[in-house]
Amino acid sequence: MNYRHAFHAGNFADVFKHILLTRILVYLMRKDQPLRFMDTHAGPGRYDLASEEANRTDEWRNGIARIANAERPAAIDELIAPWLEAIGPCDEEGKPQSYPGSPALAQKLLRPQDKIALNELHERDCLLLRRNFGRDNRVRIASMDGYTALNAWTPPVERRGLALIDPPFEVRDEFTRIVSAISKAWKKWPTGCYAIWYPIKDAAQVDRFYEDLSATGIDNVLRLELSIDQAAHAGPLTATGFCIVNPPFILIDEANTLLPWLVAVLAKQGQGSWRATQFGDRA
Ligand SMILES: C[S@@+](CC[C@H](N)C(=O)[O-])C[C@H]1O[C@@H](n2cnc3c(N)ncnc32)[C@H](O)[C@@H]1O
Repeated sequence: MNYRHAFHAGNFADVFKHILLTRILVYLMRKDQPLRFMDTHAGPGRYDLASEEANRTDEWRNGIARIANAERPAAIDELIAPWLEAIGPCDEEGKPQSYPGSPALAQKLLRPQDKIALNELHERDCLLLRRNFGRDNRVRIASMDGYTALNAWTPPVERRGLALIDPPFEVRDEFTRIVSAISKAWKKWPTGCYAIWYPIKDAAQVDRFYEDLSATGIDNVLRLELSIDQAAHAGPLTATGFCIVNPPFILIDEANTLLPWLVAVLAKQGQGSWRATQFGDRA
């Protein structure tokens, strides 16, 4: 387990993931009934962009900093306002006081009746998670393998909510593990919303992932992707995706508004692309 998210916090892939995550949570909160947010690979939850790790890569400068300094049409402003409010003010460089990871976003957005289950295997990050969130009585924190956590947590008693699966992709068969874990969870909780973040290094491998997912019988899936440069198999990450099982029905429309704008702001001039594809029936 070498991966430390602190090196990548606030980069283009985080911005893409966290804006979409926020849109899903906002949609789920349209109903008063409690919901549960489950984060199987939670990280430490909040990041200092002045840290040695963040400074070493400066990835946030091509992510959150660009968004903070970009002109935002009204339609975009409306969609990203809840995320920007959760981040708080940014300085002239586009750096917030700290950058909220998925646990901090959920903590900020969710209501008193909602529950938050966080899991992180890395000892130091889990310690930080406990320090940052342990006093919130809506939050439960665990430290086990993320897929074991997903299995243990489904179905949640509330029967509504979102499971975020955001692994580091350090192992070659991560996509296979995801398909196996989701299909198991989905059989127990077929109405749950599941969001899987992934890097795109090999487009054929990603196509296979969607085929394998479909072969399990999971049939209501939204495929959202963003690329900020020409395809690259090696070197820094330039493309990312979010796979949402049982997505909010409006998410594809929101993505069709958000993703072209994100490409315009985050991609190298003229080199980016995006996609939003719905498989199966809309929920
Ligand atoms: C991409 S980061 C998570 C970022 C976080 N979800 C966010 O958006 O702010 C992936 C995390 O998974 C943790 N991790 C690695 N292997 C794991 C495993 N088998 N089970 C659970 N967590 C694991 C890493 O320590 C790392 O903090």
